[in-house]
Amino acid sequence: MSKKLKIVTIGGGSSYTPELIEGFINRHKELPISEIWLVDILEGKEKLEIVGAMAKRMVKAAGINCSIHLTLDRKEALKGADFVTTQLRVGLLDARILDERIPLSHGMIGQETNGAGGIFKALRTIPVILDIVADMKALCPEAWLINFTNPAGMVTEAVLQYGDWDKVIGLCNIPVNAVFEEADMLGRKPQELFFKFAGINHLHWHTVVDQKGNDLTKELIDVQFGKESDGRSIVANISNNSYLYKQVENLQMVPCPYHRYYYMTDAMLDEELAGFNKNGTRAEKVKQIETELFELYKDPTLDYKPQQLAERGGARYSDAACEIINAIYNDKRTIMTVSTRNNGTITDLPPESAVEVTCLITGDGPLPFNFGSFQPQIRGLLQLMKAMEELTIKAAITGDRGTLLQAFTANPLITSGNSAELVMEELLAAHKPYLPKFDA
Ligand code: G6P
Repeated sequence: MSKKLKIVTIGGGSSYTPELIEGFINRHKELPISEIWLVDILEGKEKLEIVGAMAKRMVKAAGINCSIHLTLDRKEALKGADFVTTQLRVGLLDARILDERIPLSHGMIGQETNGAGGIFKALRTIPVILDIVADMKALCPEAWLINFTNPAGMVTEAVLQYGDWDKVIGLCNIPVNAVFEEADMLGRKPQELFFKFAGINHLHWHTVVDQKGNDLTKELIDVQFGKESDGRSIVANISNNSYLYKQVENLQMVPCPYHRYYYMTDAMLDEELAGFNKNGTRAEKVKQIETELFELYKDPTLDYKPQQLAERGGARYSDAACEIINAIYNDKRTIMTVSTRNNGTITDLPPESAVEVTCLITGDGPLPFNFGSFQPQIRGLLQLMKAMEELTIKAAITGDRGTLLQAFTANPLITSGNSAELVMEELLAAHKPYLPKFDA
């Protein structure tokens, strides 16, 4: 293949961009990228210039022939793109602070992708992503959209169901981290094991077998959550990953760190409230980490990804995005876990919805490994959360308060009745500039 590839990254001013650039540099022999366009909005211009200058230094230091373009003009960037990645945050971190603070101030979980905050992140993001898809239809109709804007599962489903665009893949770092960290917990190498994930974004379960087909799932549950466990988490943004052992020992599948919000709600809320009262929310901590990262990025001698980026919960995201692009371009049939159309992979969920499942990433996109049906102890929560996602997406598209209140009512992390409506109205008022559909 001799084609030169054009990559467009929307939200290019993100602090994660150096990992993306590093990922492309590491794969430059297989992936002939000639242009990377980093796109941002006016409010992100300063960050775009800082991280963009650093991206240029990284490419120069690597000695590869690839130009980096910085622009606020999304349409100009999208022309003729081969791959578009989305890592934007509508309303920037200040909106996330509100998503976390408002529910917490009413004694509910306040989290980036879960509970009331996660629903509002979806409401703000989905219309913007659908606008991007509309631009892609006109300007780069052959391109793949690799989305890692949260909530990644709902965003992917919105694109599939309402964007009339099939070439979309939702990406999350939780399965990537799990493979690395859990192989280590088992005293194995990742390549010696096969992890099979199924569920939806931030709510999937998995099994693991070795090369001889021995099922190591129970052993992994024991080392991770049993008596000997040190409670360490596989992601930086969730500090503790311990569970009530009796609750998980018979699940027959390994839960992900985000299950803690559902299986250990009281403990999670106590931890969040304690942190909130002491140092503010996770979003405020992230804002501080970002400020420090951008100070580093300003250093004209820095031409590699600094170690400090690992303090962000999304480490390994961008590298996985590069690997997906590599796998599609070279038809590598790499095994990766991504959000894609269900198409009967999980029989408990609608065929047209987005699921996060282990796939072969081929030249035609993700090919899921068949999964089948879950046991009731998993199926119940999964189906409830998928229904909650469907309602949230519909509310984002229609701006209908009644549908939104149904999504709030379905969500197990939101206290029902009057308090649900109170938090909903407070969030609607706080995010008004980013929710034009709810104006009426
Ligand atoms: C995890 C999740 C990501 C999320 C990130 C937040 O890695 O998988 O979806 O974006 O954490 O990390 P942060 O550092 O922003 O709290």
